Amino acid sequence: MRKKVIAGNWKMNMLPNEAISMITELTPLVKDTENEVVLCVPYTDLFYSLLTAQGTNIKIGAQNMHYEEKGAYTGEVSGKMLKSIGVEYVIIGHSERRQYFNETDETVNKKIKTAFENNLKPIVCVGETLEEREAGKAFEIIENQTQKALNGLTEEQVANTIIAYEPIWAIGTGKTATSNDANEACKKIREKIVEIYGQNVAERVIIQYGGSMKPENAKELLSMSDIDGGLIGGASLKAESFANIVNCK
Ligand code: 13P
Repeated sequence: MRKKVIAGNWKMNMLPNEAISMITELTPLVKDTENEVVLCVPYTDLFYSLLTAQGTNIKIGAQNMHYEEKGAYTGEVSGKMLKSIGVEYVIIGHSERRQYFNETDETVNKKIKTAFENNLKPIVCVGETLEEREAGKAFEIIENQTQKALNGLTEEQVANTIIAYEPIWAIGTGKTATSNDANEACKKIREKIVEIYGQNVAERVIIQYGGSMKPENAKELLSMSDIDGGLIGGASLKAESFANIVNCK
């Protein structure tokens, strides 16, 4: 049985004082869950969030990292830097980074490898655009992104990669994929992993759904056979709504 991972992605929101308040409020609300609870926060909130979450079951993640350890990359933050302050998770290849910051399948793959070298758990995002879905290419796109992201990883690394299926048309739009469509896409991703790495590895991979997940639709999405958690944007900014997703049964 795979443990569910419910991760918030705050994107470019929340000042440190807001992060501290949110995590303080969230702590008692999620303390009894069996799910893994993660908040991926902006770089400037990381240290405050880590201190506030100390001794709780809330894990802290970053939203991006560079694949080099150090060097002349102005404005970048490395996996080693994240690990050095106690960060445990890192989102890699979010569609907003692919779209606005030229993230490619190749950089995504490099970043995943560096994340593992630094003992960070990568949450790797894949997902199709509306045009790709309407052209009947959704599965081809996500299978391709998955294959390229995982290229060259060991079986153990693949098993420990979290994949977030985030259809781009469902992000921040209020449009959620139906639970059947979301599950089907997550299943396709798992089948691709079966094909390349075998059933035993694929059964261990956590595959999340992301895209307008909220308390009202989380229960149904999270009850599906191949959806092992959620990557949540807007609804992760408030302790109550995020806790409702974490605790939905
Ligand atoms: P929303 O939940 O705001 O649609 O964002 C989803 C997302 O992009 C999480 O990474």
